[in-house]
Amino acid sequence: MKLNPWKQNPWFESVAVAQRRARRRLPRPVYDALVAGSERGQSMSDNEAAYTELGLAPHVAGHQAKRDLATTVMGQQISFPVVMSPTGVQAVHPDGEVAVARAAAARGTVIGLSNFASRSVEDVVAANPQTFFQMYWTGDRDVMIQRMERAYAAGSVGLIATLDWSFSMGRDWGSPEIPERVDFRTAVRLAPQVVRKPRWLTSFARNLPDLTAPNLAAPGESKGPTFFGAYYEWMTTPPPTWDDVAWMRDQWSQLSGKPFMLKGVCRVDDARRAVDCGVDALSVSNHGGNNLDGTPAPIRVLPSISNAVADQVEVLLDGGIRRGSDVVKALALGARAVMIGRAYLWGLAANGQAGVENVLDILRSGIDSSLLGLGRSSIHELSPTDVVVAPGFRRELGPAGTS
Ligand SMILES: Cc1cc2nc3c(=O)[nH]c(=O)nc-3n(C[C@H](O)[C@H](O)[C@H](O)COP(=O)(O)O)c2cc1C
Repeated sequence: MKLNPWKQNPWFESVAVAQRRARRRLPRPVYDALVAGSERGQSMSDNEAAYTELGLAPHVAGHQAKRDLATTVMGQQISFPVVMSPTGVQAVHPDGEVAVARAAAARGTVIGLSNFASRSVEDVVAANPQTFFQMYWTGDRDVMIQRMERAYAAGSVGLIATLDWSFSMGRDWGSPEIPERVDFRTAVRLAPQVVRKPRWLTSFARNLPDLTAPNLAAPGESKGPTFFGAYYEWMTTPPPTWDDVAWMRDQWSQLSGKPFMLKGVCRVDDARRAVDCGVDALSVSNHGGNNLDGTPAPIRVLPSISNAVADQVEVLLDGGIRRGSDVVKALALGARAVMIGRAYLWGLAANGQAGVENVLDILRSGIDSSLLGLGRSSIHELSPTDVVVAPGFRRELGPAGTS
């Protein structure tokens, strides 16, 4: 009797299926690190749930045979309006960010590379020249300039500054154990959780994840600090002022001439201040619900921010995107493009580079079929009239009209 061929088919039909596969495949602490979230998980839940309060307003006829999904983000031509948001993908897959970069390149889009990434910016740019390097506010100014110089020398075509982080500790569903390094002793201690996931283990062959941050290595040193070393530097760096944001943007602009994005904007007054600092783009984001719990879903605050500043800077959104229609809703309510985090991490965990490509294909075809149903021939035609917004959906944070 023949085996059912679909049973082993690694292709998946939705991001939710990829997440279930990731859960089956990854050791528990690695899966939990991707779920992430903070405190009660209110923001993390709202990020996804908010899209269920938005509907679409389809036409019954007059549909368009050809639909244009291409756009640009910070000067980069992309084939559809989805960009890889920076995430540290330590231990999910041996190729880590290089697999994500290859998949993004294969599908014609940009990768944002976290400064906590497990692979070097040089390797990632080699896999995808459309790389934006992402930095937190960590270390002193000389160190930050060195990191910017390295990212630019490697070929990064933009910088993302992520400043929304409040070092919140504690999750109601429990936090995963992250070892300082994976040596023999830790391997033995974590063995019960790992041996139950032989496919994940064999994918690493003999190179167990080393859990360091190569892009934070001091000049001349080949190895970066451990995750905890990097986190300590971050925690002990005084938090940035708005002058620091302008300083960072100016340094990057002077040394590279390339665009600068501020990620993590939720308030209208902050969006206006970001414009005053000279940013080229901002991402309306609550860090995937991993930062200050209780921050509303970015899609709820997007219209107010877009109305205030989209004529001056590019407005992106990230948080809770799991399907093409989510992307379409965000574009209709004022985003130029979206960034995704967990969606591609589930794909990477489920099936490596091909899994990330699979996720991008799901989003692309979902955008395309939504455009078809809405009777639009281009993502640039989308408008608020395409979306049915439940009463009380929107939030506007920050005193209106302030700067
Ligand atoms: C596991 C994980 C690690 C992350 N690491 C970073 C990071 O290093 N830098 C950063 O700017 N954002 C980081 N983020 C936030 C993402 O860039 C993005 O804002 C968020 O994942 C979007 O929400 P989504 O996961 O619902 O798509 C991380 C998110 C997750 C889930």
